[in-house]
Amino acid sequence: MPFFAWQDRYDVNISSLDEQHRGIAGMINNLYDSLEKGVYNDETVGSVLIPIVECLKYHFQTEEKMMMESNYEEYHYHKSMHDRFTDEVMLSVIKIKKGEQVNAREILTMIRDWLLTHIEEEDRKLTPVLSQSSQPK
Ligand SMILES: [Fe+2]
Ligand SMILES: [Fe+2]
Repeated sequence: MPFFAWQDRYDVNISSLDEQHRGIAGMINNLYDSLEKGVYNDETVGSVLIPIVECLKYHFQTEEKMMMESNYEEYHYHKSMHDRFTDEVMLSVIKIKKGEQVNAREILTMIRDWLLTHIEEEDRKLTPVLSQSSQPK
């Protein structure tokens, strides 16, 4: 079973967001598998972990743009959750950039668990709102 086993029920039925969610889950799985196989060490893990964080940030921007364009009433609340989580994850990125040790498995677990809860509790609320507006290019 993959580390981040995606299930259809996690889909919010907004194709661009589902693709991004699935893409991030796939990146997390690939890195986790590589860690299990010992492909990365403390020095090299950042080269894969940092792009995952960049994808996460890009995903948040996509969602925020869509919410804003749809005049979503909980935009600020939803964005504040993205911002708070980004700050938390960025602490690890800063450590990696400084050459400090991080526990990559712990970070991947944190991202996976946060994403699942966030998708179920917050992103899901976007389905009726965004499916009425046009999808981004
Ligand atoms: Fe979100
Ligand atoms: Fe999302």
